[in-house]
Amino acid sequence: MQLRLSLKLTASLLPALVLVAGVACAHQASGQGQAAGQPQASPESAAQGRKHFQHYCQTCHDPQDGSRRTAPDLTGLYGRGLTPAMKQPVTDANVGGHIKQGGPRMPPFPWLDKREIAALLAYLKTL
Ligand code: HEC
Repeated sequence: MQLRLSLKLTASLLPALVLVAGVACAHQASGQGQAAGQPQASPESAAQGRKHFQHYCQTCHDPQDGSRRTAPDLTGLYGRGLTPAMKQPVTDANVGGHIKQGGPRMPPFPWLDKREIAALLAYLKTL
């Protein structure tokens, strides 16, 4: 009985889920178009990125307190030609890739999705 009920529920929710997924994809596609031209990041995603940064990155990369930092300073990163440790050109692909894959001493964050990475990049651009 219970199982039947939940199956029914799932079936009735499905169109709504598909709709939400579709909207999310459309949203991401437009975000990617923006990243290619590298215009100003939208303030909402930078604000979201700040939250992710405080949660995942701040312990090592504190942008305010240099004395507590155990990892390279990321302030002004997007104004530099090369990334501080790996000496790669500062691009969304390289910086986002480093976040996902980690580095010699930085842990990887493979579970962060595209939107979270985009938000983190948007925030890094404000530093
Ligand atoms: C446990 C400490 C630690 C955490 C947490 C951490 N990092 Fe790092 N990060 C490092 C270290 C150490 C480096 C220097 C390069 C290396 O050894 O990987 C680094 C390097 C970097 C670089 C420069 C890469 C380059 O090419 O030079 C970026 C950008 C970066 N981190 C972003 C982030 C972001 C964004 C987060 C959060 C999602 C984060 N880091 C979380 C320790 C950390």
